[in-house]
Amino acid sequence: MSFKKEKICVIGAGYVGLVSGTCFAQIGHRVVCVDNNKEKIENLEKGILPIYEPGLEKMISKNKREGRLSFATSIAQGVGESNIIFIAVHTPTKENGETNLQYVEDVSREVARAMDKYKVLVSKSTMPVNTGQKIKEIITKYCPKGLAFDIVSNPEFLKEGTAIKDFLEPDRIVIGVESKKAEKIMRGIYKPIKSPIIFTSIESSEIIKHACNAFLATKISFINAIANICEKNSANVEEVAMAMGLDKRIGSDFLKAGIGFGGSCFPKDVDAFINVAKKSGYEFNLLKEVKKINKKQREIFLDNIIRHVPDIKGKNIAVWGLSFKPDTDDMREAPSVDIINGLIAQGAIVKAFDPVAIKKSKEIFKDEIMYCKDAKEALRDSVALVVLTEWGHFKKIKPEEIKKLMKFPRIFDGRNIFPLRKMADLGFDYHSIGKNKK
Ligand SMILES: NC(=O)c1ccc[n+]([C@@H]2O[C@H](COP(=O)([O-])OP(=O)(O)OC[C@H]3O[C@@H](n4cnc5c(N)ncnc54)[C@H](O)[C@@H]3O)[C@@H](O)[C@H]2O)c1
Repeated sequence: MSFKKEKICVIGAGYVGLVSGTCFAQIGHRVVCVDNNKEKIENLEKGILPIYEPGLEKMISKNKREGRLSFATSIAQGVGESNIIFIAVHTPTKENGETNLQYVEDVSREVARAMDKYKVLVSKSTMPVNTGQKIKEIITKYCPKGLAFDIVSNPEFLKEGTAIKDFLEPDRIVIGVESKKAEKIMRGIYKPIKSPIIFTSIESSEIIKHACNAFLATKISFINAIANICEKNSANVEEVAMAMGLDKRIGSDFLKAGIGFGGSCFPKDVDAFINVAKKSGYEFNLLKEVKKINKKQREIFLDNIIRHVPDIKGKNIAVWGLSFKPDTDDMREAPSVDIINGLIAQGAIVKAFDPVAIKKSKEIFKDEIMYCKDAKEALRDSVALVVLTEWGHFKKIKPEEIKKLMKFPRIFDGRNIFPLRKMADLGFDYHSIGKNKK
């Protein structure tokens, strides 16, 4: 396909930056990924990835080999080599819910100082509305006087675990622009990707990202609230969700009851959007409730374990799953952290297994918990199994085998991975989310 291959710099080689940069290289652009974490860049040069993301390692090595992807620690070098600069650094929230834009601002200043000709500066990180204008002010202040540039907002909607496919085949691409020139350049970059592109103002684009994440988080908390009602009324939340989801106006995605959402995006983006609303003179009480339901869901689950495991102190509890969702090693805001802390506080001995998140978990729980080499080892001598992440691998282990390995056949299934009736028939003391034993 004929299209203009651009020189792109992506700043921040984390979950979003590394995937975006690699995918831009994959579709033909020349990309330099910059990160100020020297060790991360040294490892990337050697082919060692800082994150687990299916398919990424192979794609990085192919594009490096073919000369389209490189790594650097210097923003000045990255900016010098490129015409389009993507900012993909983290945008955490502060205690008060406000977004910490320090990393974005630092990067913007450095980019401005390194600019010597027209560049397009694109925000890929999730940012509160009006951040684009702040970036514009910083660039104007620190770049050579009178130099032309454009700012663009191009939020990322990828999901960890399916990030490559999400990037290369997105439902839509959202691009907030202020000039026809920037619009043309951005359209060109994405030409090989056959998805609709929605051009908006920069402010709309910034709000679209927050609105999407807030809405998805709302769907999760909504179905979890329904699950709590089902449990008390002999109903089954899976039946309810299935029938709800068949209504095209509702849709079935994000209607899976469980122990709530975590990760680096939903919790912080809900907080940030509540803050954006407040600053705009609107109390977003709906989102405040979404947050409360999500927190409560973990507490209800933990209380249930404590209530049903007699004399939990000193007992082995098997934990399956540490990452906030399957197919990622990301443990930021993972429900597992609160639930394991609650078990430790009760004096339980936690024997945990996760297919990829153990390394990240060790940064949070050092020797407070035991790490097992596989899921079955965690079960040995355990009086309860607590399922916190729905890894496909766990679903393949036969309940009959689980029963044989455990000291007592008791399961707290926070992700509803086992069939209710079968577990009851096998004699498990089985607790799930939103499904009544009757
Ligand atoms: N993780 C996701 O699934 C996801 C999805 C969509 C959007 N987002 C958004 O994308 C942004 C990035 O998220 P992430 O999960 O990739 O973050 P991350 O923490 O994995 O990566 C951020 C990277 O930026 C680097 N960095 C920080 N300051 C820097 C500087 N001055 N110079 C160079 N590098 C610097 C860090 O070293 C780190 O490697 C956030 O705004 C997030 O909300 C994330």
